[in-house]
Amino acid sequence: MTANPINLFEYEQLAPNHLSKMALDYYSSGAWDEITLRDNRAAFERVKLRPRILADVSQLSLKTTILGQTLELPLLIAPMAFQCLAHPDGELATAMAAASAGVGMVLSTMSTQSLEAVADIGQKFPHSLQWFQLYIHKDRGLTRALVERAYSAGYKALCLTVDAPVLGQRERDRRNEFVLPTGLHLANLVSMSGLNIPHAQGESGLFTYFAQQLDPSLTWRDLDWLQSLSPLPLVLKGILRGDDAERAVEYGAKAIVVSNHGGRQLDSAIASLDALPEIVAAVDGKVEVLIDGGIRRGTDILKALAIGAKAVLIGRPILWGLALAGQAGVSHLLSLLEDELRVAMSLSGVAQVRDIDPSLVTDISGNRQ
Ligand code: FNR
Ligand code: LAC
Repeated sequence: MTANPINLFEYEQLAPNHLSKMALDYYSSGAWDEITLRDNRAAFERVKLRPRILADVSQLSLKTTILGQTLELPLLIAPMAFQCLAHPDGELATAMAAASAGVGMVLSTMSTQSLEAVADIGQKFPHSLQWFQLYIHKDRGLTRALVERAYSAGYKALCLTVDAPVLGQRERDRRNEFVLPTGLHLANLVSMSGLNIPHAQGESGLFTYFAQQLDPSLTWRDLDWLQSLSPLPLVLKGILRGDDAERAVEYGAKAIVVSNHGGRQLDSAIASLDALPEIVAAVDGKVEVLIDGGIRRGTDILKALAIGAKAVLIGRPILWGLALAGQAGVSHLLSLLEDELRVAMSLSGVAQVRDIDPSLVTDISGNRQ
C-alpha cells in the first residue's frame, strides 16, 4: 500500500494510521449489521454505463448549478459532525478545500468549529456554496437561534435532516462509550446552551445526546414554522420514498437529498441509488434532487446524474482526507474525484453535465432504461 493515495479507497485504507480508535469507529460505522452501508456501494456496482462514441469530448465542462448557484463540479461535501476528531483544523480545513475547489459544503449542526468561523472562510470566495445542516432540538428557542445565526452568517440554505428522530445504533460507538475528547465541543451550541456530549455508561454519548436533546415529535407541520424563521430555502435530507418526496415539494422544500445517512440510521434501509429513480419520477423536475451514500468514484457521480440527480454529496472520504493531511488532503481527494469524473465523462461521450441522460446507464438488472 502506497503512502501517496491515488483514489478514495486508498485514502480509506490509510486513515486508520491517523485516527484514534474512538474516532475511526465513529466515522466508519454503520448501524447494526451495516447491511445498508455495504449496499450503498454495491448499488453503484450493479448499475452499468452505456457509453457513446465519437462525440467530441475535447472541450469538457463539469460546471453545474444548485439552487441557482454555480459549482465547478456537481459535488458537495456532506454534513458530518465532529471533524476536529480527524484534524485540529476540522471544519475550517474542509471549508477551505471546498471553496477553493468550487464544490459545495454542508456544515453540520454538530460541528466542532463554529458556524460563524466556517462562514468567514466562505466569504473569502465570491462563489462559495455553504449550507447549514439543521438538527431540531426540543428547545425550540435554541433551534430558532441557530437558524438566525446561520442566516446572518451567510449560509445559502437550511438542510434539515429528516432521517434521525433518534440516532441509529452503531454498536462500536456503544462499546467505546463514544464521547468527545477533552478540548472538543459542540461549537455551535456550547456558547448558547452549555450543551455537550455526555459520557454514558454502556452507551454512545451521542446516542444519549440525541435521546435527551433532539425532538422526535417532528412532523410535516413543523416545516411551516421552520420556514417562517428565515428566508433561507429549505432542503430535506434523508428521503427514500417517492411519496415523501412529493410531500416535501408540497411543503415547500426547494431541494431534496436522497440519503440513508451513509447507512448509519435504519439498517436494511434501501440503498440510496436504488431509491433514486422512484424519487426522480415523483418530483418530476419540480425541485432539484441530490443524493449521497457510497459515492467513491467519478463513475459513481456519472451514474447518479444519469439517473436524475443534479449533484452528489460525499461523506466519509472527506474525513479520511482530513485525517491524512488536513486541508491539503481534502483538496487532493477532491481533485482525484474531479479527474476521474472528467475521464469517465470523456469515455462516455458527454462533454457537458447537461448532456448526461438516462440512456447512459442500465437499470440495476443490467437492462437498458
Ligand atoms: C454523518 N452524516 C451526517 N448527516 C447529517 O445530516 N448531520 C450530521 O451531523 C452527520 N454526521 C455524520 C458524521 C459522520 C462521521 C458520517 C460518516 C456521516 C451523514 C452524511 O451527511 C452523509 O449522509 C453520509 O455520510 C453519506 O454517505 P458516505 O459518502 O459517507 O457513504
Ligand atoms: C451521525 C450524526 C451526528 O451520523 O448525524 O453521527
